[in-house]
Amino acid sequence: MITPESNPQSQLPSERHAPIPGWLLGFGVILSFWAGGYLFFYSGGFRGDVYDPGQITWGPVNTGPVAPPDPKAIGKRLFTANCAQCHQSNGHGQAGVYPPLDNSEWVVGSKNRLISILHKGIAGPIHVSGLLYNNNMPAWGDGAPIMLKDEQISAILTYIRSEWGNKASPVSTEEVAAKRKELSAITSPWSESGLLAIPDESTTPPAPASATKK
Ligand code: HEC
Repeated sequence: MITPESNPQSQLPSERHAPIPGWLLGFGVILSFWAGGYLFFYSGGFRGDVYDPGQITWGPVNTGPVAPPDPKAIGKRLFTANCAQCHQSNGHGQAGVYPPLDNSEWVVGSKNRLISILHKGIAGPIHVSGLLYNNNMPAWGDGAPIMLKDEQISAILTYIRSEWGNKASPVSTEEVAAKRKELSAITSPWSESGLLAIPDESTTPPAPASATKK
């Protein structure tokens, strides 16, 4: 007869449910607190732009502080998105429908008039480079079809005044902002005669500091 004592199987250690030892639980709690604290102090708020440049060894070589964005490059991008469908990326426009910006007296001439055109648009007949157009130019400063900000308008104008064959001075954001204020009461687009009545130079110049900076 086989008794439990004589059965060699019963001598083997049995599998039983054992509670987690207290010291292990305590250790786990402490570890969680430490890890949470570590993340709190060193995660950089989980922001994508927070990193340690010294730690990154792949990708392009870090060449120090990033250069400020080139206003002409920004102007080109905004021009392509907002103006090129009518005036074309070569600035030649479309014969009889959309006037050229390349070599246009309105573009390289008076900044005062050019900024006014962008803010309020044009309606009806206008002569550009000796040819007559009779169409409509959207009012970009007044939100049609989209509202361009002062710095966007200045970037576009700086671009079109210095691109293609054009070689005219840049337009500052301050100049565009001053004009927006000055024209705030005007709600209709310009006519050619209305534009020609605008003085060549603005009578409300922007702050001298910004005028000398740009
Ligand atoms: C929907 C087509 C259209 C778009 C988009 C457009 N324009 Fe025009 N623009 C015109 C038309 C049409 C005229 C001529 C207005 C007229 O016939 O009364 C004009 C005239 C002008 C003029 C004065 C005349 C000249 O050729 O020099 C300037 C400057 C100008 N646009 C700049 C711009 C700029 C900068 C943008 C982008 C922010 C732009 N336009 C977007 C249609 C457009």
